Amino acid sequence: MLKYLVMYTIRPINSIKAEVAIPADKSISHRAVFFSAIGGKEVKIYPFLSSNDTQVTLDCIKKLGIEYYRDNFSQEAIYLQGKGLNFPKDEKVELFAGESGTTIRILSGLLVGQKFNSVFRAGDYLNERPMGRIVYPLRDMGANIDGNKMAKQEKEDIYPPLKIEPVSELTGKCHKLNIASAQVKSALLLAGLYAKGETIVEEPYKSRDHTERMLQSFGADIKIDKNRVSLKPGAQLNLPKEIFIPSDFSAAAFFIVLALILEKSQITIKNVNLNPSRCGLLAVLKRMNADIVIKNKKERTEPYGDIVVKNSRLSSTVVEPDEIAAMIDEVPIFCVAAAYAKGQTQIKGLGELKVKETDRVFSMVSNLSQSGVDILDRNNRQDGCQITINGGCNYSGGDFKSFGDHRTAMSLIIFALAAKSKSKIDDIRCIDKSFPGFIKIIEEFKAR
Ligand code: S3P
Repeated sequence: MLKYLVMYTIRPINSIKAEVAIPADKSISHRAVFFSAIGGKEVKIYPFLSSNDTQVTLDCIKKLGIEYYRDNFSQEAIYLQGKGLNFPKDEKVELFAGESGTTIRILSGLLVGQKFNSVFRAGDYLNERPMGRIVYPLRDMGANIDGNKMAKQEKEDIYPPLKIEPVSELTGKCHKLNIASAQVKSALLLAGLYAKGETIVEEPYKSRDHTERMLQSFGADIKIDKNRVSLKPGAQLNLPKEIFIPSDFSAAAFFIVLALILEKSQITIKNVNLNPSRCGLLAVLKRMNADIVIKNKKERTEPYGDIVVKNSRLSSTVVEPDEIAAMIDEVPIFCVAAAYAKGQTQIKGLGELKVKETDRVFSMVSNLSQSGVDILDRNNRQDGCQITINGGCNYSGGDFKSFGDHRTAMSLIIFALAAKSKSKIDDIRCIDKSFPGFIKIIEEFKAR
């Protein structure tokens, strides 16, 4: 890994009319690998997202004895040869999750059911992210999983590395989560495949449901009722020959907002995942007067379609806590949309944003305010953490910090493209976590 920072300069652009190609969905790419690995046959996954996070998932799966290879003709497709629920290993396995929370949290759900010991290490940023949310409920199921018990920011939690030892039996439990988290839900459901009895997960709000959709379409005995999922073990998973992955809505969101805030612009993005548990941002932007049209809607386990966005005069809105789960990764770019909207926008229920790759409440408030945006955060007893933005326009550029967070970096670059003067951002290497082609698209815009 490069040790030096990669600074990037952004000059404003006037308008853009383009069709933008967005890479495959990150959450679904990880899950497609996990499910293919525990299926019993060869599966083609296409297009597969090639990024730092999904690469660590592939590296982990390879260490667990599962082979994969890339298609000779289309580098976008990968093939995996699954070997069933038990990974073919009998010695201790050391895994490295890099900066991927999805890898360490969801894969731990499979590791607790194995017959060998494993150690799961993480990169510098992921080492700071809480793992108690998976460790405690997995322990309730009988798993032998531990980590580094520490108090960070006054709260005691468990941090990587995680150590997992085999147990003779796991038992299904009813887990009532106090946060909406697809990583936690997925880890528990996957552990439930190895458990005796039913595993139930209830969330306060519905988080992304890709795992449930896959379990259902691969023949698992699963029931889904709003925010409650229950899974009975024992059914043979029947993987298809091919898993198709639509483009990532979270990556598309940067260009949706760019088209909205740049004068006389229009952007079309094809085959974007339109899963309602992911694209809550669309409903919020539409009530702010955004001109967004969905075309060619299709479905293959996940709904997807084309999004056409035109420059719009955005008005302000209030985003309630129950809307956050379906737009959790889009809050940073939503702050940019709100900064260019007329009036006061409030975004409530942002506690979970503080434990992402960085504290995204701090990263967005500190960066945007130094560029002249009237933005503040506060903790409110009723609605939790919230951000208030008094929108405007004519912002000067900024001297931004990414804090090593891909979504903060990309959001600020979009903000800067619509600003009135040049901006700089200190380090953009983190963008490769989810969207390695992002800067190339921006450079192509600049060259027009
Ligand atoms: C993800 C779930 C979300 C999201 C993350 C990816 C997933 O995290 O923020 O980027 O793939 O399951 P939480 O489970 O912590 O909400």
